[in-house]
Amino acid sequence: MTEHPQPNTIIEDDCLDVMPAWPDACVDHCIADPPFGISSGSGRRGKKGLGWAFSSHVTMQETWDRFSHDDFFQFNVRWLSEVCRVVKPNGNILVFGTFHNIYQLGFILQSVLNRRILNSIVWFKPNAQPNITARTLTESTEQIIWAVNDTPERAKKWTFNYWDAKELAGGRQMRNLWEFGVTPKSERGNGKHPSQKPLALVERLVLVASKPDELLLDPFGGTGTLAVAARKHGRRWLLIESESGYVEVARRRLERESAEP
Ligand SMILES: C[S@@+](CC[C@H](N)C(=O)[O-])C[C@H]1O[C@@H](n2cnc3c(N)ncnc32)[C@H](O)[C@@H]1O
Repeated sequence: MTEHPQPNTIIEDDCLDVMPAWPDACVDHCIADPPFGISSGSGRRGKKGLGWAFSSHVTMQETWDRFSHDDFFQFNVRWLSEVCRVVKPNGNILVFGTFHNIYQLGFILQSVLNRRILNSIVWFKPNAQPNITARTLTESTEQIIWAVNDTPERAKKWTFNYWDAKELAGGRQMRNLWEFGVTPKSERGNGKHPSQKPLALVERLVLVASKPDELLLDPFGGTGTLAVAARKHGRRWLLIESESGYVEVARRRLERESAEP
């Protein structure tokens, strides 16, 4: 039996176990920031110290980010397929990624699931950490794929708050290059997470790609950035996060921010 998920809750579990129990088309949009698949495994993926050099001088060795090559592809197919099933037709699907996973995610959305891609947003980080290896360029961008939950032929009437976007862009049409610094210390006070997203960036996604009161899903909730942004702008939210430590961080963050004047 399928049951509708309860809005404004954090579900502590694996999203691959949770979403299959939900009915079709039960959320309006999805904003997802999935694992990068750079923490371990074999070959270059396993090289210590390189994977996370674009973000900070620590090695990304999170257990939630460890996959073998084939497992990673299957994992991405499975969660994106479920997202396409639970998001309403023509709902927005926004997916973060770095060069490690974004091409695979784009391939799955476009060629495996046959979804219409609207834009690729490039997040430029002017204060990205230097590359300590001095062997490649300094990574200072991430991407966000903006897809519509229908085929390229059928996709229509997706949500794009054009005028809000224009206002946010200072009266000019909003471009797909977005400049935001890396997550500031002031947003990290509730507990550590290696890939917490800046609140202002997620707020912009919420404001541009959803309407008030709509239900936004984040299947990889982390520290709850989407929940904070959604609540701030009158949207409902739904997070899934498998690590209990991060669930606690997200709960603490939501509680503290509602207590603030
Ligand atoms: C890239 S981080 C998301 C960070 C988040 N956007 C934020 O601003 O805090 C990915 C998160 O997904 C969680 N995760 C990984 N695999 C998962 C799964 N199968 N189901 C649910 N959560 C998962 C990890 O624990 C991690 O917190």
